[in-house]
Amino acid sequence: MKHLLSTNDLSRAQAIRILDTAEQMAATQDREIRKLPTLRGKTIVNLFFEDSTRTRISFEAAAKRLSADVINFSAKGSSVSKGESLKDTALTLQAMGADAVVIRHWASGAAYRLAESGWMHGSVLNAGDGTHQHPTQALLDAFTMRKHLIGAQEGPGAHMQTPTGNDLTGLTVGLVGDVLHSRVARSNVSLLTTLGAKVVLVSPPTLVPVGIESWPVEVVHGLDEALDRFDIDALMMLRVQRERMSGGGSSFFPSAQEYTRLFGLDGDRMRRLPGHAIVMHPGPMNRGLEITAEAADSERSVIVEQVSNGVAVRMAALYLLLAGEEDAQ
Ligand code: NCD
Repeated sequence: MKHLLSTNDLSRAQAIRILDTAEQMAATQDREIRKLPTLRGKTIVNLFFEDSTRTRISFEAAAKRLSADVINFSAKGSSVSKGESLKDTALTLQAMGADAVVIRHWASGAAYRLAESGWMHGSVLNAGDGTHQHPTQALLDAFTMRKHLIGAQEGPGAHMQTPTGNDLTGLTVGLVGDVLHSRVARSNVSLLTTLGAKVVLVSPPTLVPVGIESWPVEVVHGLDEALDRFDIDALMMLRVQRERMSGGGSSFFPSAQEYTRLFGLDGDRMRRLPGHAIVMHPGPMNRGLEITAEAADSERSVIVEQVSNGVAVRMAALYLLLAGEEDAQ
């Protein structure tokens, strides 16, 4: 594997290899000295054309813990604001000897363009392109679900013993809210399906993408209905992405109150989930809109843990793309 662009490109075996490697990486993070020498001498560029807190910091931490040199580039304050194209930016990175570029861009397809253009020779990791894909987010979500819900000896994780190995067979995952604008939802639907989980999308009709019939999912139009009909093991709340809606959302749902009434997760709805179920959110949260503080800060919430798992998963991805092949030889 040279690039990580989309969860659609991952076979079950490849996905499991990343998750297993992430588990080994996570184990190294409990040690006193957390830094591994693995990517010494490699240069990784974080190329961010769109705002980010978690993803950018997490890729930076992952690269540094593998001893790579990290260059952070954000479009704001760079020559991009003078109109420089993606091509010229890529040629500059190539001239600086980047071994890998982590790219977040507002245009769907930007990561593919960079990988396939030949403008640069390094690996490309997609850290979110428009409404299209965000593969490391889906991988960290799957990692978090596997840890809590699959195969552990005791405790809540004892819920499932999957017969097929280390995948997510038998789990039902609910993705709730603004699916239309969510690269997190798209990445999760394909990865979760590859790993054997069942996916339920819970979304207002106006926030369901065109062509949903061909997705391998069930669709319901209210959170209460989803809680009635399905035994949900992991409930992932999606952010209402107002920056991708003209008019701040008013053309997609009548009011914020109405959205919260039908799709928001509060304490009462949370208590209707099965006892072992976990509550997830990729962040950043709109507290009070898609999730209440009670649900976000509850014992079932793994939202903060998703962030730390993100570092281990990104360490695994960087390691497998940049050193995995050499290592195997
Ligand atoms: C997500 C993103 O940027 O796609 N956030 C993240 O990476 N943690 C989700 C979002 O912005 O709602």
